[in-house]
Amino acid sequence: MTKVAIIGAGAVGMTYANTLVAADLIDEIAIIDINKERTEANAWDLRHSLPYLKSSAKQIYSADYETCQNADIVVITANARAATFDGDMDRLKLLEANVSMIKSITERVMASGFNGVFLVASNPVDVISQVIAEVSGLPKGQVIGTGTLLETARLRDMIAEEVVVDPKNIHGYVLGEHGNSSFAAWSNLSIGSLPLTKWLERHPESKLADFDYFDNRVREIGFDIFNGKGNTSYGIASVLARLTVAITRNEQALLPVSAYMTGHYGIKDVYIGAPCVIGKNGVREIFEVELSEKEATAYKKSAAILKENFSSIKH
Ligand code: 2OP
Repeated sequence: MTKVAIIGAGAVGMTYANTLVAADLIDEIAIIDINKERTEANAWDLRHSLPYLKSSAKQIYSADYETCQNADIVVITANARAATFDGDMDRLKLLEANVSMIKSITERVMASGFNGVFLVASNPVDVISQVIAEVSGLPKGQVIGTGTLLETARLRDMIAEEVVVDPKNIHGYVLGEHGNSSFAAWSNLSIGSLPLTKWLERHPESKLADFDYFDNRVREIGFDIFNGKGNTSYGIASVLARLTVAITRNEQALLPVSAYMTGHYGIKDVYIGAPCVIGKNGVREIFEVELSEKEATAYKKSAAILKENFSSIKH
């Protein structure tokens, strides 16, 4: 039996819950939110899809923090009401409004006796993950931020469209902050096993040759979605579902998530998007791929931004 507790029953939390149910990924889903009435309504609504989906019978219910005690994964999607972009398209601007709420959520989860894996989606996700790791006192591998797994999906989608192949066959990573200092590791992107650079030699006219354009599009598109519909939900919900599967099935999957760096890529003492091997205890190890000099510099710059933001919080 597998169990997740979702904290925050907004668009992200509930889309994730729906993904878990529709794809039959988890046996028990507990949903925690300050708005109990809305959460109960969401749990009933979701249960009513069970008779008509292939999904096996599940427990889906609104709960309090005590339920986290025996959860395999606690997923943090909560966002304070005051944490809005307000025209300033920078996730780091949400830190001040979200940080005290996140600390208190973490304390309440830990008071239950929880000892599973935290999956964090609340923004700014890298800094928030570091706060959760610090407040929880859990081994750092047990706290994972969704990081650049979402940017990586966005880039894979864009490349797949240009090359006209399934995005599953586009390999590579966007790394760094989940935010405005992220960067694609272009030097090791590949289509199937063909390096993108080789493919570009054969298709010199392709738009893909303009790496800066795509780096910018990957950074902007989250805000375009946000401006168009008031949130982003499906992409991030699938990112959370993918990580849920990697953990509950002990996959040892290699995915770019926000993890605590201890010297990899010349970066340490900060949570940032990096390729990680993920299994039942969370991040087993950080995987070092070859980066170009330009990419390595962008990585260090991104890490410096995140470190500065983490230090700006009153501890
Ligand atoms: C996203 O990139 C807004 O962080 C959110 O979809």
